[in-house]
Amino acid sequence: MRVQRFEQAAALASALAADLIGRIQRTPRLVIGLATGRTPMLLYRELRLKTAAQGVDWSLVHTLNLDEFVGAGAVGQRYRDFMQEELFAHVNLDERHIHFLDGRAADLGAECDRYERTIAELGGIDVQILGIGVNGHIGFNEPGIALHPRTHVARLELSTRARNTWLFDGAVERVPELALSMGIETIVDAREIVLLATGAEKAEAVQGMIEGPVTPTLPASVLQRHKSVTVMVDGDAAGRLSRR
Ligand code: PGA
Repeated sequence: MRVQRFEQAAALASALAADLIGRIQRTPRLVIGLATGRTPMLLYRELRLKTAAQGVDWSLVHTLNLDEFVGAGAVGQRYRDFMQEELFAHVNLDERHIHFLDGRAADLGAECDRYERTIAELGGIDVQILGIGVNGHIGFNEPGIALHPRTHVARLELSTRARNTWLFDGAVERVPELALSMGIETIVDAREIVLLATGAEKAEAVQGMIEGPVTPTLPASVLQRHKSVTVMVDGDAAGRLSRR
């Protein structure tokens, strides 16, 4: 894993936005895997600003988001709505190129299968952006005795639901217990992975992911098996790494 350390989260977001825009300019049909959460908000802000300033053309790009709550929309915000506000409404992505798991699908298993087929039909993901949970999850692949390889229905840990109350009026009981998520192999199949981590509360998970054993109790550690992973961290998230 390549670790890139930045003093400030804003500098990290700016560097990654510039990198992604360069990729779009070189490869107009880029397939980008996107993540939600508070960490990538600065990235999306930078992408909005740079797109407007440079007239970046997203019309051939495809995006695939990692995960979505089951049933959200009636009780709080869907990740799809978050992405619309943060990025999609501000760039000229073709609506048909925005791929999302539908957490309100009648048949959730079939919806997961559909998503795997979509990824395959697009020829796979060129670059996947990830955050990391305090518990070491990526997407909604929560720690456990085994990890789901493919897109699946995930049961969320209470700590994960507690960290998502900002989308649900601050009420943990409103945060769904279930979500749909790309699986670990779905993620690892991406040709390149960029994981972002900022803030001291991520330091332990970041250290375990990079320096610990590969274990399903810290799902992000599986990324050690991938050939092209860049971990972009601020000083706080890098705070427990032995080589700083
Ligand atoms: P966060 O979520 O950016 O809101 O901390 C990260 C994650 O759970 O992947």
